[in-house]
Amino acid sequence: MIKQIKNKLKKVIKREKETSLLRIGIPQPPTPQNYFKKEIKQLLKLNPNNIGTTTRMKFSQDSCRELENKVIKKISNWFHGSNLDGYINSGSTEGNIMALWIGREYLKKKGRPIIISHSEGHYSLDKAARLLDLKIIKTKAKFWNKPLDKTQLKEATKNIESPLIIVGTLGHTSTGIIDNIESISEFIKEYKKPCFLHLDAAVGGFFIPFLNKNKYSDFGNSFVKSLTFDYHKYGFLYYPSGIFLCRKGLQDNIGSNTEYVKIFDDTLIGSRSGILPAIIWANTEYLSKKGFKKRAMKIISNKNKFIKRLNEKDIKYLETPSMPMVCIILKKRLPKDIEIKFRIHSIKREEGYTYTIYFYPEYLKSYEELLKII
Ligand SMILES: Cc1ncc(COP(=O)(O)O)c(C=O)c1O
Repeated sequence: MIKQIKNKLKKVIKREKETSLLRIGIPQPPTPQNYFKKEIKQLLKLNPNNIGTTTRMKFSQDSCRELENKVIKKISNWFHGSNLDGYINSGSTEGNIMALWIGREYLKKKGRPIIISHSEGHYSLDKAARLLDLKIIKTKAKFWNKPLDKTQLKEATKNIESPLIIVGTLGHTSTGIIDNIESISEFIKEYKKPCFLHLDAAVGGFFIPFLNKNKYSDFGNSFVKSLTFDYHKYGFLYYPSGIFLCRKGLQDNIGSNTEYVKIFDDTLIGSRSGILPAIIWANTEYLSKKGFKKRAMKIISNKNKFIKRLNEKDIKYLETPSMPMVCIILKKRLPKDIEIKFRIHSIKREEGYTYTIYFYPEYLKSYEELLKII
């Protein structure tokens, strides 16, 4: 029996290997870069639980919680947050649900909030809205290639009197567009009811601190209440490794009242492994901000080479200089087998069929192959 199981696993590993270098339409590091493989093996023999939020509790020295606390503090600084709360979670779907849940509870004394986002806002926002039984308004689809700003927010809230949870996206999944957080903040200043501003930096989180000098796009902006981003996209680590950050004490709004878990249960899920927090800490220490910046710059340089080729071929595209993707716009849809081979998805728009290409160093050959086809 064990032989059969091993044989099946062998086939799965072979197939995963073959497809992993072709997935240019998905923000997924094909070969995670963990510099502490021996240590992860040792930790896998143990079962540390990092339930709760280390910035809000006591923890033991030399524990996985201590390492999570260190990495959350370090990353908070990257985003100009000096005294934030935060924890490592399953990714930005969870981060978005967590933020919107906190937002609903934070605003509830002032009325039932409405969620507002860009038309291209990630579908996890719709999922969160359904879970939380909140209305979500997305801006008009015709603005797909423009960042969310004050003018669009004014139009979307013309007949609204409710408090708002506004989601600004730092690197839209399909276009790479960064919403105009400065302009959104101006809207919040003028809006008649309180607002909760959450930033979804799932894709752009590892570029904003290094390549984007806009001081409004993080906790340096006092309107920003929470932010989510993922190590399992451009931090080059394994699933599940997302980061949720928020202003100190905001998690009080959703903490559990059950006596025996009171100190722990202030996140969306309960128990979670302490292994990835330890590995995230180790790799972040090892690479440091300098290493992450170097990696981000290399990715952007590869993207720029690809763009040069698009220009030569007179292919239309959309791109944001600090983001790791290009949204190409083709007159005709590509054949299905090509879409499947490269895991690229077409979206039909007025301007044509758009495809989003993500940049990872391992994919260089695949970009060349695609360029020959389009
Ligand atoms: C902008 C944005 N937000 C949220 C998510 C959800 O992230 P995850 O699938 O890691 O939960 C994604 C995933 O691609 C995303 O692009």
